Amino acid sequence: MSRIFNFSAGPSILPESVLLKAQQELLDWHGTGMSVMEMSHRGKEFISIAEELKNDLIDLLNIPDNYKVLFLQGGATGQFAAIPQNILRGKDSACYVNTGAWSTKAIKEAKNHCNVTVSADAKASNFTDIPSYAGWDVDQNAAYLHYTANETIHGVEFQDIPDFGDIPLVCDMSSNILSRTVDISKFGIIYAGSQKNMGPAGVTVVIVRDDLIGQADSKIASVFDYNQQAKNDSMLNTPATYNWYLVGLVLKWVKDSGGVAAMEQQNQIKADTLYKAIEQSSLYSNPVKNTVRSRMNVPFVLADSELDAEFLKLATKSGLTTLKGHRSVGGMRASIYNAMPVEGVNALVSFMAEFEKTHA
Ligand SMILES: Cc1ncc(COP(=O)(O)O)c(C=O)c1O
Repeated sequence: MSRIFNFSAGPSILPESVLLKAQQELLDWHGTGMSVMEMSHRGKEFISIAEELKNDLIDLLNIPDNYKVLFLQGGATGQFAAIPQNILRGKDSACYVNTGAWSTKAIKEAKNHCNVTVSADAKASNFTDIPSYAGWDVDQNAAYLHYTANETIHGVEFQDIPDFGDIPLVCDMSSNILSRTVDISKFGIIYAGSQKNMGPAGVTVVIVRDDLIGQADSKIASVFDYNQQAKNDSMLNTPATYNWYLVGLVLKWVKDSGGVAAMEQQNQIKADTLYKAIEQSSLYSNPVKNTVRSRMNVPFVLADSELDAEFLKLATKSGLTTLKGHRSVGGMRASIYNAMPVEGVNALVSFMAEFEKTHA
């Protein structure tokens, strides 16, 4: 068996030990003679898996008691609609910050449900910067303020948490949850799809403060209603049981690796290594302002785009895959989530240097 270094933006690389554990337990979970896939979600075996999953996430993120932790379906995209439907609370507007492709999508979907004030917009910079907080136009009467903590496509990441007083802060953390420590108490809602730092695709984590629950739009689909899901332990309908189990294994791996602070330390080292290699080269460049560069998704372009195909071909041959940038921005993108080992980044940097030497 040979494993490659997979730089995919999501679904993405998983810790090898998690895959091996899943393989070991595939046919017989803990002596039950059943695969987790075959278990009733109401049975005591699966209930124990679900409880551990939730408790481990609470531990890892230090989630205060006044928050509900939900595991839903429909992806972060489902939440783009579910958020206004759940928390407008009789108001008719919400504030959004536009820092890239994912916030643009969130805004588009929100507009089906309320008036949207775009409090700050980085479009003019081609999404290579985050507008400074001083210039944000935040309406304190709006229902909430939404932003995307890490723009997976543009490689732009908030390095701190915006503070705009009492307006509930809603954050899409799909591509950087568990990668750095955050103070959950600053947020009204945090949501994230699982397929980057938490496991395979198929689980959407929603962490929502209690006071925001219980006033959903009466026409909301029940599966998206935070109150109904919270009352049913996220099992209002049949959950994606096997995916919950796999996310649970990834959370155990994060714990065993030293927790979120240890992940953050390692992510900083990986990102520094890769950005430094880009800075020092005359072939590669990254357009993002260095104070807002993402630790998770590192886009870069080659000075001569004619070399792109050759770069990708030789990288794949060297066991470094899925480096093609998103079609909307072109070039390359290396996603270096928690599960990407330092050796993967070192291998990429060595490959890039060698390619530059032979092709520049
Ligand atoms: C930041 C961000 N938000 C939202 C999404 C959409 O997630 P999903 O495809 O799970 O709906 C993605 C997907 O990659 C993302 O990176």
